[in-house]
Formats: sequence, C-alpha cells, structure tokens
Amino acid sequence: MPSLSDFLYTQLVLRIPKPSASFTSKTVIITGANAGLGKETAQHMIRLGASKVIFGCRSPVRGEQAKREIERLLKCRADIITVWELDLESPASIRRFVDQANALPRLDVVINNAGVHVASYTVVYDTERTLAVNDIGTFLLALQLLPKLKETARKHGVTPHMTTVSSALYDIAKYPESRGDDMDIFAWFKDEAHVNLMNQYNLSKLFQLYIIIKLSAIVDPIDADNPNPNPIVINSLDPCFCKTGLSGDLTGAPKVFFSIFRAIFARTAEEGARLVVQAASAGRETHGLYLRAGAVQKYAPIAQDEKRVSYVWDQLCQRLEKLQPGVLTNIQAVKS
Ligand SMILES: NC(=O)c1ccc[n+]([C@@H]2O[C@H](COP(=O)([O-])OP(=O)(O)OC[C@H]3O[C@@H](n4cnc5c(N)ncnc54)[C@H](OP(=O)(O)O)[C@@H]3O)[C@@H](O)[C@H]2O)c1
Repeated sequence: MPSLSDFLYTQLVLRIPKPSASFTSKTVIITGANAGLGKETAQHMIRLGASKVIFGCRSPVRGEQAKREIERLLKCRADIITVWELDLESPASIRRFVDQANALPRLDVVINNAGVHVASYTVVYDTERTLAVNDIGTFLLALQLLPKLKETARKHGVTPHMTTVSSALYDIAKYPESRGDDMDIFAWFKDEAHVNLMNQYNLSKLFQLYIIIKLSAIVDPIDADNPNPNPIVINSLDPCFCKTGLSGDLTGAPKVFFSIFRAIFARTAEEGARLVVQAASAGRETHGLYLRAGAVQKYAPIAQDEKRVSYVWDQLCQRLEKLQPGVLTNIQAVKS
C-alpha cells in the first residue's frame, strides 16, 4: 500500500502528461471499454492514431452506446471502433471473442481492463466472483490472445503490448497464510465463510501480478545475451484512484463514505487512462514489470514471494485447463 504521503502525492499533486506515443495503424483490444478507464483509454488511443479499437463488452448495447458517444466527441470514422460481446464469466463468450480476434489481420495491443470490485458474495467458476472475473476470466482470455500478438510481432516487426490494469491495493492484500500452501486457493474462496469482500479485490490484484510475473518469465523473457528478435511486452500498472463505476454496487453508509472519499481524492478517469496508454507503449524494458505514477515501480515484498508466485500460477493453470481443455497450449505456441 502506498504510504499516506505517496497516496496524497499521486492523487493530488502528480502531473500526468497526456500520452503522445503514436498508435498509427495499430489494432487494439480493450476489455470493459464501455465505461470508466477503458472508455477513456480508447479515446486517447484513437486520438493517437489507432486504426482499429475493439471494445470487449459484456453488454453490446452499452458498448454501442459508448462507441456512438466517442464517435460524436472525436468526430472519428465509424469503422475505427468495433464492439464485440465479451463476458469474462463465460468461457463460451471468451471463446467466441478469441475466434473473432484470430481473424484480425493484426493485433498490436491488448488492454486487460475489465474488472469488478463487488459488494456482495457470489460464486462464479467455482470460486468467489472477484477472483473469477479479475483473474480466471481475465487470463482465460489473455492466454488465448498471445498467439495473435506474437504473429503480429513476427509479421510486422513491431513490439505488441499486453497491459493489465492492476492496482496499488495489491500490497495490502491478506493471503490466507495459515491454510498452508497445499490447498486449492480458488476452492478456499468458494466458501463464503472464508471471504472478506474488502480483501477480495486486493487479493485479485495481487494474483494478477503473480500471474504476470510468471507469464512474462515464460513468454519472451528478457535475455540480454540472447535477445529475442520479435518479442512482445507483458506488463501491468496502477492507474491511480479514479472516478469510475468501480464499487458502484455499494449501499448505505459505505456508499456515502466512499462517495465523499472519491470526491476529495479521486482523479478523473481520463487522467488514469493516460497512465494505461503510457504502459501500453512503454516498451520491452517494462516486460514483466509494474508501473505506478508513470514509472516502473519495484514490486512490494508480497509480490516477490517466488514460491507463492509459482503456486498461484499453477492453481490458475489447473483452473483454466479445466474450463477449457488445451488452453495452455497457447503459451507453448508463443514460446520462442
Ligand atoms: N477506478 C479506480 O480507481 C481503479 C484503480 C485501480 C485499478 N482499477 C482497475 O481498472 C479497471 C477498470 O475499472 P474502472 O475503474 O474503469 O471501473 P468500471 O467503470 O466499473 O469499469 C469496469 C468495466 O469492466 C467491465 N466488466 C465487469 N465485469 C465484466 C465481465 N464479467 N465481463 C466483461 N466485462 C466486465 C464493466 O462492464 P459493465 O459496464 O457491463 O459493468 C466495465 O466496462 C479494473 O480492472 C479496475 O480494477 C481501477
């Protein structure tokens, strides 16, 4: 967790420059692009020249609404934004989305943005929903998009980016230490008695970092002695605390408290999206790393626990393979 002074600095003082990297002729996928950070990220990238921006939205109606709004604002061509249905809680929906992505001529950027911070307990994929959406669904999709990113790198001599919108809150996640390291972590959280919803979001963001650390060590690891000719970049970032629809299902006193806190401290989603765009064009030196306030930030000790990184990665792989047998071959396919 950032210290109080760091939080106040990044929320109230830090100047976040408008991104200026070119996205000319790039094809981008943004999950959850109908709202909040995803929608603002799309606008920045279109301004910066992206030729195709695909919105992965669980509600095509909300996706089309956002598309029309952006086209009106930016006066951009109607063929730049395309809305595809994507529900991260449904392997069939993810599979359909991947089939469409595989038919694209190229794929330069994937923003794993869609996420939830829930106020009530439900079970999805045989675990608590926050972990299901932010980790299982997110990486069930992400793994299947890797081959297209890699193909684009090889065919076009570019460096595609897969950027995950994580959170600085990973650092205060409470891992169920006392249970030992041989339990099924996702099954553990299927039991409501084990779930503290305040912690679940933070834990899901910690797991995202564990997964990215492992995935980036397998796919195109940095090797100065043996540089990869067509690598991709897998990184993550904290976009600051921003005014968006996240935590929108709070009620009563927590809702009032959160609204006041947000009104005082939160940045606009447009500012947070500047950091997303920056990470999505940050280059190979950010492979496997986490950016905060516009720069690479060292992982906190909780994210550096190698045993746990491997353990959560293995647990995730088992879950993904169960949901979609053969899905892990996507990783083998991009290993060079
Ligand atoms: N806002 C912050 O302060 C902050 C800080 C750190 C990190 N983040 C991260 O930023 C990302 C974007 O969040 P946001 O703040 O922009 O919140 P948001 O306004 O609530 O947007 C979340 C997006 O995710 C989509 N989504 C949720 N569940 C989904 C599912 N099952 N399948 C597909 N899409 C789904 C939502 O779709 P619907 O519109 O259909 O619900 C929405 O488009 C999240 O990963 C969040 O954890 C946010």
